[in-house]
Amino acid sequence: MRPRPLTDGVQLLATLDWDRRLFDALIPLPDGTSYNAYLVQGRDKTALVDTSDAERGHELREALAGVPRVDVVVAHHAEQDHSGQLPWVLERYPQAVVLATARGKSMLVDHLRVPDARIRAVADGETLDLGGKTLEFLHTPWVHWPETMCTWLREDRILFSCDFFGSHLATSDVFVADGPKVLDAAKRYYAEIMMPFRTVIQRNLEKLKRLDLLMIAPSHGPVYDKPALILDAYRDWVSDRMRNLVTLPYVSMHGSTARLVHRLVEELADRGVAAEPFDMTSVDLGRLAVSLVDAATLVVGTPTVLVGPHPAVVYAAALANALKPKLRYAAVIGSYGWSGKAVEQIAGLIPDLKVEVLGTVLCKGLPQEADYQAIARLAETIAERHKALGLA
Ligand code: FEO
Repeated sequence: MRPRPLTDGVQLLATLDWDRRLFDALIPLPDGTSYNAYLVQGRDKTALVDTSDAERGHELREALAGVPRVDVVVAHHAEQDHSGQLPWVLERYPQAVVLATARGKSMLVDHLRVPDARIRAVADGETLDLGGKTLEFLHTPWVHWPETMCTWLREDRILFSCDFFGSHLATSDVFVADGPKVLDAAKRYYAEIMMPFRTVIQRNLEKLKRLDLLMIAPSHGPVYDKPALILDAYRDWVSDRMRNLVTLPYVSMHGSTARLVHRLVEELADRGVAAEPFDMTSVDLGRLAVSLVDAATLVVGTPTVLVGPHPAVVYAAALANALKPKLRYAAVIGSYGWSGKAVEQIAGLIPDLKVEVLGTVLCKGLPQEADYQAIARLAETIAERHKALGLA
C-alpha cells in the first residue's frame, strides 16, 4: 500500500499480505495479515519504525523509494516479519543506526546477521529527539519475545506497539473502521501469540497507563485511533475473569466419543453452561485458541488409538498446555476397544495447566446408559464448580 499519513510527519508504510494463510507454519490466517512500518520525520532526523517480512520486501522498498534519508531504524522485535527487511534498509541507508533493546541487539545479530556495530542498545525510558518529534523507548518484554519494546511518540501521542495489540488482518483501512471485526482478529492474535504471557502483559499494561494515548499503531492490522477499544479488550483478556464456558477439543473415529461429546454439550446446556466442541480433524486452531481465552473448563474427548489417545487430541492437549489459558478445571472423556490407557496419558500432557481434574468418563465401545449417566454427573460437577466461581 502507498504510504498513508497518520498525522503530520508520521506515515504508515503497510505491506498487506492478503493471501497469507499460515504464520509460523502453525497459526491459521483466515484474513491474511499486514506488516506495518512507520516513518517519523522530525526537523533534523527521520526514523523508520520496524520494517517488514522479507518475503514481501519489495513493497517496503517501493514505499521508501522517495525517502532519501533514514537516520535511525527502531527495531522493536527481532522476529523476521518485522526485521526481515532490516539488512536491505541498512544497505540503502548506510548512515542509519538500528535502535533496539540490548537483548534485541543480540537477537538481530543472531537471526539477521546485522553487523553488531550498526545496532545501538537503548535503555528503558531513553529518549531521542528527531527535531520536534521525541521518541521514548519503553521496554515491554515478552510481548511476545524477551526482547520486545514499544516506542512512544510524545508530541503526537502515538504508541508504536509492534506485535502488542496487533491483529492478523489485511485491510486497506488505515484506522479501525469495523471495530467488532478488528477485535475478533485481535482476540485471535492474543490467544495464539500473547496468552502464554498473560501475567507479564498485565504488568506491561500498567506501565503504559501513564500515557495519554491518541493512537496505538501496531505492526499488524489497522491503527487504533480510539485506543480504549483495544486497551479495554486486553484488560479483559488478561484479567482473571472467565466465562461460564467449557472448551471441548475431541476426535471420534467410529462415533462413540462423538456421542459422549454431544451428550455432554446437551447436559451442560441443561445446566446453563455453554460448551464449544472442536473436532480436531477439521479444526481452525485459532477458534480453539480464542475459546480458551475465557473458558473455565477444558474437557478433552479422545478415542483410543492402539494404547493411547488419538494423536490429534495429543496435539490439542499440547497446544492448550503451551498457551497457558486461565482454565480452572479439566476432564477427559472417550472410548476404547481393548485398552483404556488413553486417559492417564492425556492428564500427563497438561502439566503446566493449574487445573483440578474433575474426572474421566471412558466407555468401552458404544456408550451405554451407565456411560451417559456418568456424563450427566460430570456435567453436574462442572456446573457446580462454575457456580462456585460465580459464573452461573
Ligand atoms: Fe509479528 Fe512476533 O512477530
